[in-house]
Amino acid sequence: MKIQIINGPNLNLLSIREPDIYGVATFEDYLKELRIKFSDTEIHYYQSNVEGEIINRIHQTGFSFDGIVLNAGAYTHTSVAIHDAIKSVETPVVEVHISNVYAREQFRRQSLLAAACKGVIAGFGMDSYRLAIEALKQLKVS
Ligand code: DQA
Repeated sequence: MKIQIINGPNLNLLSIREPDIYGVATFEDYLKELRIKFSDTEIHYYQSNVEGEIINRIHQTGFSFDGIVLNAGAYTHTSVAIHDAIKSVETPVVEVHISNVYAREQFRRQSLLAAACKGVIAGFGMDSYRLAIEALKQLKVS
């Protein structure tokens, strides 16, 4: 099984950025744990701060991978173009957030992506990514 994780803007600064909200772990360290846990799964990782590059990655993996785990960061709340990219591909996309966006500022409570995604997982810290992979694996067998 092949899974693509895509992290959007500012998520390259995990461990440094607002650690009270996003935690103290780097994504690279967490990724090592994920790859050990899902040793039967190819987990590809991509991070970009650029909207168009995120769209390109969705296009590149959205016809051949089994699932995409997408944390689009702030683009979640603004990007019609990423919504359209998700709708344009065949691979199921799970929207994830480290924080519970519904318990934060009003502007984070709207996702322009959720309606195009298979589902949404938010608020479980880094564990949101593991839960998304579990969900994609379950989809594959069901
Ligand atoms: C986030 C939530 C977004 O509102 C924010 O802009 C982020 C991170 C999260 O993972 O909790 O960059 O997607």
